[in-house]
Amino acid sequence: MSAQYMLDTATSRATPTPAPMKRLTVPQIAARKGGEPIVMLTAYTARMAQLLDPHCDLLLVGDSLGQVIYGLDTTVRVTLDMMIAHGAAVVRGSYHSVVIVDLPFGSYEESPEAAFRSAARVMAETGAAGVKLEGGAAMAPTIAFLSQRGVPVIGHVGLTPQAVNVLGGYGARGRGAAEFDKIVGDASAICAAGAFAIVVEGVVEPLARAVTAAVACPTIGIGASPACDGQVLVVDDMLGMFERVPRFVRRFDDLAVRIDAAAIAYAAAVRDRSFPGDAELYLAIP
Ligand code: KIV
Repeated sequence: MSAQYMLDTATSRATPTPAPMKRLTVPQIAARKGGEPIVMLTAYTARMAQLLDPHCDLLLVGDSLGQVIYGLDTTVRVTLDMMIAHGAAVVRGSYHSVVIVDLPFGSYEESPEAAFRSAARVMAETGAAGVKLEGGAAMAPTIAFLSQRGVPVIGHVGLTPQAVNVLGGYGARGRGAAEFDKIVGDASAICAAGAFAIVVEGVVEPLARAVTAAVACPTIGIGASPACDGQVLVVDDMLGMFERVPRFVRRFDDLAVRIDAAAIAYAAAVRDRSFPGDAELYLAIP
């Protein structure tokens, strides 16, 4: 599948032509349990959404944008307004994938009602199809409250980055039997509560396999297992934008190196006055 591009004269930027296909739906994603693997990537901007959209089933406006876009040290400092601004951009830049927006830390944990208010803002102000929130059995009542009121929810278990201050770091979870069993129980609880899919992040491989076998909804792995019903990566990791490469990341490009080379070439062309050249100038009529 590939997008066609045309010049949008309003912005002088290439944008995809209007949809030749309908946007996927949440029930279509939920029905992929045990079927064709679900392809999910994060996206934070309209242009990146345009590029990824034809190839993905789900675009996640992850709160990882705190680190990736804003240079924050953790996702704990990400706000609902940040998520909404980027969520709206990704919806504007896509027409095929289901767009899901992360509820940030502090916007949903207090009560199901608080979570509903945050989710309703996200959906009304961005056009996204649903939200993702972190947490296990403790979040099951909230997930039930949301999903019974028109908010599709993706759950998130295992390594939950918003809880980094409790977990003490970003190491893989489920190495001990007690935590292994707890995470399987967490996933089962939120699936039973109505989550239409579950992100399983940063767990030992047999645990991701056990979660996938235990729950009726699709699992989407990151640092998890090929047995999951789908996979997700942070797009900037996948493109090679950062020097640090966690074990679970495969770099499908080396974009940071290529951007560096382009910037070196641009700077040299400015300094030796070879840029702009005649082809890049509005020459006077002879
Ligand atoms: O915020 C994020 O990007 C995520 C993915 C890593 C699943 O939650």
